[in-house]
Amino acid sequence: MMMIIKLADSDFDNILNIVSDATGVYKKVFFSGCYKEPYVTPKDFEVGVQFYGLKEDDTLVAVMGIQHVIDVVLIRHLYVLTNQQRKGYGEKLLKHVMDLTETSTFLVGFWKTAFWAVNFFTKYGFKEVSAEEKNRILLTCCPLSEHQLDALTVLKIKKPNSKTLILQVNPKKPDPQKIQMAANIIQTGGLVAFPTETVYGLGVNALNSDALSYLFKVKNRPLDNPPILHIADINQVYPLVKEVPKNAELLMKQFWPGPLTLIFKRSETIPKETTAGLDTIAIRLPSHNVAIALIKQSGAPIAAPSANLSGKPSPTLAQHVYDDLNGKIDAILDGGPTCIGVESTVLDLSVDPPMLLRPGGTPFEAIHQVLPNIILHPLVISEQEVTVKHARSPGMKHKHYAPNAEVILVEGTIQAMVTKIIVLSEQYKREGKKVGILATDETQKKYSAHVVKSMGSRSNLDTIATKLFRELREFNESSVDVILAESIPSDGMGLAVMNRLRKASDYHIIKA
Ligand code: TXA
Ligand code: MG
Repeated sequence: MMMIIKLADSDFDNILNIVSDATGVYKKVFFSGCYKEPYVTPKDFEVGVQFYGLKEDDTLVAVMGIQHVIDVVLIRHLYVLTNQQRKGYGEKLLKHVMDLTETSTFLVGFWKTAFWAVNFFTKYGFKEVSAEEKNRILLTCCPLSEHQLDALTVLKIKKPNSKTLILQVNPKKPDPQKIQMAANIIQTGGLVAFPTETVYGLGVNALNSDALSYLFKVKNRPLDNPPILHIADINQVYPLVKEVPKNAELLMKQFWPGPLTLIFKRSETIPKETTAGLDTIAIRLPSHNVAIALIKQSGAPIAAPSANLSGKPSPTLAQHVYDDLNGKIDAILDGGPTCIGVESTVLDLSVDPPMLLRPGGTPFEAIHQVLPNIILHPLVISEQEVTVKHARSPGMKHKHYAPNAEVILVEGTIQAMVTKIIVLSEQYKREGKKVGILATDETQKKYSAHVVKSMGSRSNLDTIATKLFRELREFNESSVDVILAESIPSDGMGLAVMNRLRKASDYHIIKA
């Protein structure tokens, strides 16, 4: 492994200690600096030190032939990049180092400097390594105090062709610097995926129509399907809508922040890309600290559909976003797994009576307590494909949540369902197909198939919702040809789960 360690003035002494120790492990250290560097000379390191510099005329010297001997690269002088005139030096240097590096290259530094490097070298792409990997990398160099470890960040440099920056954030208390960085991207028209309590969203400034057009393109999303606007404060609703009906106020008070999206009649000022030409607008106030911090810091409502490629299961882990969108979006704020696991409930308040268009994180029963006249759009529990004519919500008519394999949903009593799934599974196996079964804790042991997964216990539908999308995606890894899925009761979160399973099966439903 080669390690690149970037040093800046203020970090220098500190890092130098760390790296002097590191030489004990790595033996061979490549120090990059200008010839006239006053700070370090090769004698500072005991073994195998390589040294090179940049001449005044910009030529890079003494780089060739070192790739076999170096383990650690110290980049001392990249700080000159902050100085516009000398910008070319650092860029050339890093390019050389990148070209020399066959394996993983890491950039270690204090946040301030790493932060800068990331902004500058966006074309290479950086991924902040996980806390465990960071500890592994740094602690194999030398013993570090907890304080030193906290102060350092390790970025894994990715080769050109990938430019998505991954930032690990504490989901409860996100690092303000990282949020600031993500907000900068949003403000300049970029795309940032971020966690919400339901699923990861792919955010852009909702009032920037160019950014929105790009968002649709990246997700491969049909243009007639508008995103939800995410706000950080109830007061942000008013300028976006024509009116806030009384029942909306009740619901906002009771369920916001949280997984409930409300459809209002929209105000005139919203760009048409934001609403796909509809006269209504979908708004929600999420309850995830990372989402809230990002929206606040960006200073605008954030339009965010789920951060998956259109048609795939929504992402409940940053890795899912990465799998679908790496290289196509600017950054992912990785706040770990999302807790609800299915998307927000979408409720249309622009019609009377109010109509539930998508079951989700806020159960129908809970809303019904506040709005006794609420009705379910018939297609929410539909067992058939939706025709364009009947779709009140554009999302209803598009294919959704599909893993690579064909999904077949089996509905019926538990006993009948299990029997039917066993029969179907044997049938597919005889046809030479790899079968996956999506079962529950109570039934899992009754099956034998290429992969059998449990969604969780039938006595805890919330957990089933949390795990559903992840499990659907995981079937891709075992490359099964067909997935036989059990159905679960439609109470509470079960309604959202069944709606997603029906769509994932493209309404291939077998009654047991
Ligand atoms: O939990 C969630 O809602 C996640 C997170 C990221 O917040 N977002 C999400 O967004 O699921 P998306 O774009 O994947 O789904 C938004 C749904 C779509 O079904 C869309 O058709 C519907 O909301 N929608 C948006 N604007 C609408 C409108 N004006 N009228 C009716 N439905 C609308
Ligand atoms: Mg979606």
